[in-house]
Amino acid sequence: MLRFVTIEGGDGSGKTRQVGLLDEYLNSRGVSRLLTREPGDTPLGKDLRKLLLEGRPESLSDETELFLILADRAQHVREVVEPALGQGKLVVSDRFADSTLAYQGYGRGMDLALLRRLNLMATGGTMPELTIILDCPVEVALARAAKRLDPDAAREYRFESEGVAFQRRVREGFLELAEADPSRCVVVPTDGPEMATQEKMRRIIDERLHESAGG
Ligand SMILES: Nc1ncnc2c1ncn2[C@@H]1O[C@H](COP(=O)(O)OP(=O)(O)OP(=O)(O)O)[C@@H](O)[C@H]1O
Ligand SMILES: [Mg+2]
Repeated sequence: MLRFVTIEGGDGSGKTRQVGLLDEYLNSRGVSRLLTREPGDTPLGKDLRKLLLEGRPESLSDETELFLILADRAQHVREVVEPALGQGKLVVSDRFADSTLAYQGYGRGMDLALLRRLNLMATGGTMPELTIILDCPVEVALARAAKRLDPDAAREYRFESEGVAFQRRVREGFLELAEADPSRCVVVPTDGPEMATQEKMRRIIDERLHESAGG
C-alpha cells in the first residue's frame, strides 16, 4: 500500500519544485495528502533548520550536524508524518532518511551501518514505500541551487558551500542507495524540462497507487 513517498536528491536537483507540481496533480486527483519536508517542518525543526543550513560549513562539527538532523527527523516523524499517516493521508516528504546516508555517509564519510541504525531510532521504523531520487549533474544542480525555491533559500547555503567534490559524493551516494534497494527507489533524471521529470513521477506514483487499490 502506498502511504509514504520521499523525494530525494542533491542540492538544487529540483525536489521542492517537483513536490509543488506533484501537489497540484494529487489535488486535481482528489488524493488526501500531506506535503512536508526535512529539515524544518515542526516548530523545533524551524530552529534546527536554521542551525543546519545557515552559516559556514565549519560552523558545526560533523557529529553535531548529524545529531541535529536526527533530532529534526525524530520530531518530524512523531509530530507530522505519523499523525498524517494515521489519518490515511498520502505523505510526501521533500528529503528524509536517505539524505542522511548520502550526505553524512557518502558525503562526510561516516559509517553507513551506524547511520542506518541511528535512522531506525530516529524514524521509529517509519519508512517510505517509495523513494524518488532526482538526479542531475552536480554542475547543473549547483547553478540551480542559487535560485532554489525554499523559503529562506538565500541564507541556506551551508551544504552548497562544501563544493563540487562533496556534492559529487552525495550524488554517487544516492545512486548507490537506489541500486541497492530497487523495490523502493526509482531514479528520475532532472536535467531536462521540469515537466518531463514531473510526468515520470506522476506515472510512477499512479502505478503504485493503482497497485495499492488493486490489492
Ligand atoms: N528541470 C529543471 N529545469 C530548469 N530549472 C529547474 C528544473 N528543476 C528545477 N529548476 C529550478 O532550479 C532551482 C532549484 O530547484 P529546487 O528549489 O526545486 O531544488 P531543491 O532540490 O529543492 O534544492 P535544495 O536541496 O537546495 O532545497 C529552482 O529555481 C527551480 O525552478
Ligand atoms: Mg528544496
